[in-house]
Amino acid sequence: MVTESVSKPGTEAGGQHLKSSLRENRVFPPPAEFSARAHVRSLGDYEAMYRRSVEEPDAFWAEAADSLDWMERWTRVLDWDGSRAQWYVGGKLNLCANAVDRHALGSRASKVALLWEGEPGEQRSLTYQELHTEVQRFSNGLKSLGVRKGDRVSIYMGMCPELAIALLSCARIGAVHSVVFGGFAAQALADRTNDAQCKVLITQDSSFRRGQPVPLKAIADEALTRCACVENVVVFRRSGTPVPMQDGRDHWWHDVVERAERECAPEPMDAEDPLFILYTSGTTGKPKGLVHTTGGYGVGTLLTTRYNFDLHETDVYFCTADIGWITGHSYVVYGPLLNGATVMLYEGAPNWPETDRFWRMIDTHKVTIFYTAPTAIRAFMKWGTDCVRKHSLSSLRLLGTVGEPINPEAWMWYHREIGHERCPIVDTWWQTETGMHMIAPVPGAVPTKPGSATRPFFGVVPEIVTKQGEPVPAGCGGLLVIRRPWPAMARTIFGDHERYVKTYWSEIPGSYFTGDGARVDEDGYFWLMGRVDDVLNVSGHRLGTMEIESALVAHTSVAEAAVVGRPDEMKGEGVIAFVSLADEREPSPALKDELKKWVAKEIGALARPDDIRFTPALPKTRSGKIMRRLLRELAATGEVKGDTTTLEDFSVVASLKEKDEE
Ligand code: WTA
Repeated sequence: MVTESVSKPGTEAGGQHLKSSLRENRVFPPPAEFSARAHVRSLGDYEAMYRRSVEEPDAFWAEAADSLDWMERWTRVLDWDGSRAQWYVGGKLNLCANAVDRHALGSRASKVALLWEGEPGEQRSLTYQELHTEVQRFSNGLKSLGVRKGDRVSIYMGMCPELAIALLSCARIGAVHSVVFGGFAAQALADRTNDAQCKVLITQDSSFRRGQPVPLKAIADEALTRCACVENVVVFRRSGTPVPMQDGRDHWWHDVVERAERECAPEPMDAEDPLFILYTSGTTGKPKGLVHTTGGYGVGTLLTTRYNFDLHETDVYFCTADIGWITGHSYVVYGPLLNGATVMLYEGAPNWPETDRFWRMIDTHKVTIFYTAPTAIRAFMKWGTDCVRKHSLSSLRLLGTVGEPINPEAWMWYHREIGHERCPIVDTWWQTETGMHMIAPVPGAVPTKPGSATRPFFGVVPEIVTKQGEPVPAGCGGLLVIRRPWPAMARTIFGDHERYVKTYWSEIPGSYFTGDGARVDEDGYFWLMGRVDDVLNVSGHRLGTMEIESALVAHTSVAEAAVVGRPDEMKGEGVIAFVSLADEREPSPALKDELKKWVAKEIGALARPDDIRFTPALPKTRSGKIMRRLLRELAATGEVKGDTTTLEDFSVVASLKEKDEE
């Protein structure tokens, strides 16, 4: 049974998966060969470790923290007052030193840290020692531009080693990075840069996507006309395309590092000093700048990377996420580098020049761990098996997924075609807010079920509850909450702690509210069912309906707009916008097109509506609230079944339906 609230937006897609998940009873035990060499080798060991982690959390997390080098030891593991958490109180450390120096100055000096392929095919690799040198020089470069501890730095780049170097350099000098995904448009970049009051912006001339240049510097220039806070801009020369440089404001990366001193001591940071801000969509029009801090985030990402990917010294690790998202922060940069892993970075599209690009790279670089999103897997399935079977993929030993519920069909395809039935599949549930994996199978120990993220990570206590916070019986759907704090949790929303408390710690008092619906089966396995709020999950990317609505109403032709998700076989969810036009504007296919382009220009191509439906008015309740449930139903099925008695004007729904049938 699924409560009404969990069949809300996002869940239509999840719900569809759920239908097949409910029939899903296949269980895949960890391959014996895999378990034999794993960090955790049996279900019994996992359960014992889990039990200890929740019965003696302080002891568990204290021990976990020993995996990092501290400049000063902390005095208490956790201070928690119900809305403000402090982990590793009084501890001092530097995460860049932990991610780079200790490997470069230790036994991993000549081990490859970053392995990069540009979309056109160039390859580069940097050892830990080389990374150490680059990071120190760029850190000094940032200092020479006046960046100091606590200052915010906006980063708007494509996937290249310099992007990772930029993050690590900020961490080294105590500056707070705020990465904006390179697919966001100028306005979105400007909004985020202004909200965080960034002093410096780091970008590059252009990047590549499907053979086309992505003009990052030009977009940044447009954004910067609206950002008074930015004093200096650093531009990395990636493609060599000529770009205008503004005197006094813009500096080439290579000039900045050439002038810089070679040695830069890492800044001692308090465990609770902010490491970065990352914006994500919520239920209002304004994205939230989630603040992650140093000590707990370091411990959480290090530990989850080690256990959930069963990381070993010889692994070559490839996560396809862009560093612009939380997955890239935690599981391209920090988690793997804190563990001293070899990390593969790829700049471009998975189907460039051919649909076998990933498989070719896996064979070339002998990738052992591959982490991607269900939406990508569904695209691979569509591209067919010929391009996969051309490659051996024999180096792979573990596969991961993240970002949305994975439908069992995609899971099975991944297992068979990519994993050759020998690689455990680690379905990781977590969020920008959680900073680290929360629910995922520890691969040598926990049997997997296609479509389930399985069991919680050590120290994490998830539960399914009703809207009133009452536990629901096993097998029933409800809201997913987390019962206690964990080290990598976001501490606040930048500049708005009240919103943080209200959004996450007040819905279900005493618990963290995830915004997701889920159920637990008789084996204690978690099955995620999608968002229960007005957040969409399009191709594994989070989008706020209100954000897209605000963009639409900013267009002169639009009077009102309501955006909902519609189940989409490939993307999980598609974006459907219901639009009523301003006086005297006439609906037309050309206007539809224009509005789609407008949203792409205002927010980024990822938010472009799949469909726009014109309507004379939006269905509203008597109190004036847009009836999104009706619109969702209409978008999904073309029909409206539920209760419409509070509708202000039935004829609006009737006319929307008619249009649908045209
Ligand atoms: C969804 C991405 C099901 C979920 C790391 C969550 C998932 C939102 C999974 C967070 C998964 C992420 N199974 N759903 N394995 N992973 N989600 O902040 O709805 O971009 O709330 O973080 O993605 O998206 P975000």
